[in-house]
Amino acid sequence: MTAPRIIRRLDVLRAQVAAWKSAGESVAVVPTMGALHAGHLSLVKAAAADCDRVIVTIFVNPKQFNNPDDLASYPRTEEDDARKLADYRVDLIYAPDADQVYRPGFATNVSVSGVSEGLCGAHRPGHFDGVAIVVTKLFLQTQADKAFFGEKDYQQLQVVKRLVTDLDIPIEVVGCPTVRDADGLALSSRNLLLSAEQRLIAPAIHAALTEARDAIRGGADVAHALEDARRRILDAGFDSVEYLELRDAGDLHPLEVADRPARLLAAAVLGKIRLIDNIAV
Ligand code: PAJ
Repeated sequence: MTAPRIIRRLDVLRAQVAAWKSAGESVAVVPTMGALHAGHLSLVKAAAADCDRVIVTIFVNPKQFNNPDDLASYPRTEEDDARKLADYRVDLIYAPDADQVYRPGFATNVSVSGVSEGLCGAHRPGHFDGVAIVVTKLFLQTQADKAFFGEKDYQQLQVVKRLVTDLDIPIEVVGCPTVRDADGLALSSRNLLLSAEQRLIAPAIHAALTEARDAIRGGADVAHALEDARRRILDAGFDSVEYLELRDAGDLHPLEVADRPARLLAAAVLGKIRLIDNIAV
């Protein structure tokens, strides 16, 4: 199939979506920052199975990067991305020019408390405010009926669900399971930045989380299981573990015992690369 059309301007997007809606068609949006991999494509597939029309957005959102080096080194592969999407039922790619998202004088913030605190929120100041504003804008710009997000970024998914509820944005947020490589490493655009040696170390996060989950399920003390998992990640060759915690699966408040649906979440740093992962308990 041919690659989907790329739209860069909001007025063009609006006209297209209005035409679909007046024909009674349902619209899905899959927000991304590009460098698409099988994880993103699983969301596209879920969207195409669910809605008449599918919009994939590609926008490397400067407001959610707290580290300028991270923003500068973020992979940008738009042509490849468009080619990959040609294999799916995608109607258009919305890759807005920066001024279509942040006009001169832009001064509005969206800040979600509670679920955005701790975990990545503690280590990436301003990150979830940046995610919240761009996602709010993409929802309002696309007017989609459903939005597809990965559980890979579990805290982000909860932040987005919260803001949609709180702001009465008429969109349904659908969470989709994490896609992994055969060795367990969660697919991530940042994996492209790993050296061959680092790539061998990287699956240790998932291995440690899985082991901790099994231990907790087997009745082990949570604090001990978390400490063992942390040690395992460092022993594998990671430079540091930013966090490794057990949280309530819904509102993400910290748990000392797994007496309800819970989530184990971790972030660890390997050289200059920060990787995150999480699993259900
Ligand atoms: P990005 O990192 O490009 O991810 C886009 C979407 O793909 C997110 O919903 C993310 O959770 C999902 N995703 C990434 N890796 C995945 C995997 N291995 N399995 C399943 N889903 C995966 O997340 C962002 O962009 C941005 O913060 C964004 C929401 C687009 C706002 O700028």
